[in-house]
Amino acid sequence: MAIGILLICSFTVEGQNSNETKMDNFINALMKKMTLNEKIGQLNLVTPGGAVTGSVVSKDVDTKIRNGQVGGLFGITGPDKIRRAQEIAVKNSRLHIPLIFGLDVIHGHRTIFPIPLGLSASWDTSLIKRSARIAANEATADGLNWVFSPMVDIARDPRWGRIAEGSGEDAFLGSQIAKAMVDGYQENYLSKDSTVMACVKHYALYGASEAGRDYNTVDMSKVRMYNEYLPPYKAAVDAGVGSVMSSFNTVDGIPASANRFLLTDVLRKQWGFRGLVVSDYTSISEMINHGLGDLQTVSAKSLNAGMDMDMVSEGFLTTLEESLKQGKVSLKTIDEACRKVLEAKYKLGLFDDPYRYCNEEKFKTELMSEANLKAAREIAERCFVLLKNDNNLLPLKKSGTIALIGPLADNKRNMLGTWSVSGDPQKSVTIMQGIKNVAGNDVNILYAKGANISEDTMLIKRVNVFGTEIDVDSRTPEEMINEAVETANKADVVVAVLGEAADMTGESSSMTHIGLQLSQENLLKALVKTGKPVVLVLMNGRPMTLTWEDAHVPAILDTWFGGTEAGNAVADVLFGNYNPSGKLTASFPRNVGQIPVYYNHLNTGRPFHPGDSPKFKSDYLDVANTPLYPFGYGLSYTTFSYSDISLSNKILKAGGKITASVNVTNTGTRKGKETVQLYTRQLVGSIARPVKELKGFQQIILEPGETKKVTFLISVDDLKFYNSDLKYVYEPGPFKLFIGTNSADVKEADFELK
Ligand code: NOJ
Repeated sequence: MAIGILLICSFTVEGQNSNETKMDNFINALMKKMTLNEKIGQLNLVTPGGAVTGSVVSKDVDTKIRNGQVGGLFGITGPDKIRRAQEIAVKNSRLHIPLIFGLDVIHGHRTIFPIPLGLSASWDTSLIKRSARIAANEATADGLNWVFSPMVDIARDPRWGRIAEGSGEDAFLGSQIAKAMVDGYQENYLSKDSTVMACVKHYALYGASEAGRDYNTVDMSKVRMYNEYLPPYKAAVDAGVGSVMSSFNTVDGIPASANRFLLTDVLRKQWGFRGLVVSDYTSISEMINHGLGDLQTVSAKSLNAGMDMDMVSEGFLTTLEESLKQGKVSLKTIDEACRKVLEAKYKLGLFDDPYRYCNEEKFKTELMSEANLKAAREIAERCFVLLKNDNNLLPLKKSGTIALIGPLADNKRNMLGTWSVSGDPQKSVTIMQGIKNVAGNDVNILYAKGANISEDTMLIKRVNVFGTEIDVDSRTPEEMINEAVETANKADVVVAVLGEAADMTGESSSMTHIGLQLSQENLLKALVKTGKPVVLVLMNGRPMTLTWEDAHVPAILDTWFGGTEAGNAVADVLFGNYNPSGKLTASFPRNVGQIPVYYNHLNTGRPFHPGDSPKFKSDYLDVANTPLYPFGYGLSYTTFSYSDISLSNKILKAGGKITASVNVTNTGTRKGKETVQLYTRQLVGSIARPVKELKGFQQIILEPGETKKVTFLISVDDLKFYNSDLKYVYEPGPFKLFIGTNSADVKEADFELK
């Protein structure tokens, strides 16, 4: 027993008064025994190396654990390593308080699923929840009890590399996915051996970094904040998320890690969050660079703003005692933060059994099990987005000769994408292997690399910092393209697998050029010039600019970074074993100059409508206002038609409900899945309101020729928003309602809210 007190830890996240009383009593008794330094020690989260996810690695970790100067560790995995560290805490520290063990488990742990932006393109919350559940099973089998996920930052700027880690541009969809992830990780029951504490991040507004440059300033109106950026964090809190991670950016000039408005007023007071708040990696000490003072000052500011745990800065550990002496922080505030850390440990059942996540048997059977790999393949298939398919070039026939071309066609290293810290790229299935597995014996596959991912030496050096993702061939670009063209000329169809290296997105991976690298663009042009039908299979972590590709390549399948089983999943879709059903969750711009381009923007006083005389209208001289591919867009191998909308009533009364229905028919020749999307627009309001807002979606599967009626229920609650007093209100007046296959292609109806 860890500290000599027998506990029956069956702690659910919500409610459970008697459990809370037991917990309070336990922690009160423990805290009475703790010295000031031991309390401050609990606030210290360190990393001994292992999976390195920041620029500083903590020193003397074992000694600090022994001295009661560490509350938790992150970066290490494996029941053996975790047991060893836990033993130091439990056997050698004065009060035997167990450690908490965290890690970035972002889109799977050892079995890697598609990157989060890809997962979101499934629009399938139960599928996404399943991915989080499997990740939690694997993470706990690997000794962990805390995952730094879900990342729910709304992102409308594809230059920002971290757009890959979230669910795109929409707060409604982002909120549903945030909840699904938290439910999957925590199952509302933290003390089970297979659940982990989730950590919603990066609180807050990190995705709105200026110019898409990482860690950059964020400045936005409160109305936008509350309506368009905060909802997914709140949804995670409402779902009972155990912890929240602060972000690197400033908000209103104050870094999030010392922002009392965010950490206390909104999070604790308005949303009632009762869990643990942890800083991001050195985000406390980085406030020195933000110009907020020295380490002691910024650490005190952070604690006073509502921070509980300091990730890696060791500002709390080294300065809080002095700040207390100087009256810059109070003992009460230190106690409150310490209590939050201890509560997390209690809820995870660590006081009951500090080794509960060190199960060697589970370690042997759970990680990358057959069932998990099977799930990874199924999940990945459902995330790919068919962007174009002229003349039904796809699916491919399982006969004839395929020229498989491109630097990503047979490339294990890049299949997993960013933030797959525990994934093993060597165990990933390449597209070449997947095609071999799925195509059967009648398909002849010819291969040529065709180009390097990039020829830009500076970029290559930056991207390859954790290993060779961009391997540079000894041949010249011309030699490679010539070989590819010769290969293409021998084939019936070309499958060109092009895109980004895994770490061209993710943290500290912002880009101003978000199209294909020149080397690949040249290759693609040469392949198209052969006159052979070309299928472009894209691997990418962000919306890319694909204007040339869209105009010249007959079929484009966006596969993101599909994870461990990506190759099999891509092949399943290419050959029609699965009919693609993904839909974009972030708009694809026509060029970088359009950014930010997102569907739920406000109207201007001078909106431009196609066909208008353009002078004195809100538009560009050189490019359309619309994105190349809009939010919600994605094709299928079949086609769907939508009937007009039928409304149960044209008047929606406060307290009442109306329904809106459409009949959706599969007008093609294959079974297919469609995501039917509901949007509304408030035409008159006290503040300008978005031209469209997603309010619901439903997924249906239709056989060829089959029709299904899809009905949405709309109540006043669905139409609420934060007004300029930040009151969550509805406003009577006229509304438009839209139902369709994507945010741009919709049927329309009108109703009035009375
Ligand atoms: C910094 C990243 O911003 C965050 O997402 C991650 O969880 C931490 N490092 C820990 O690795």
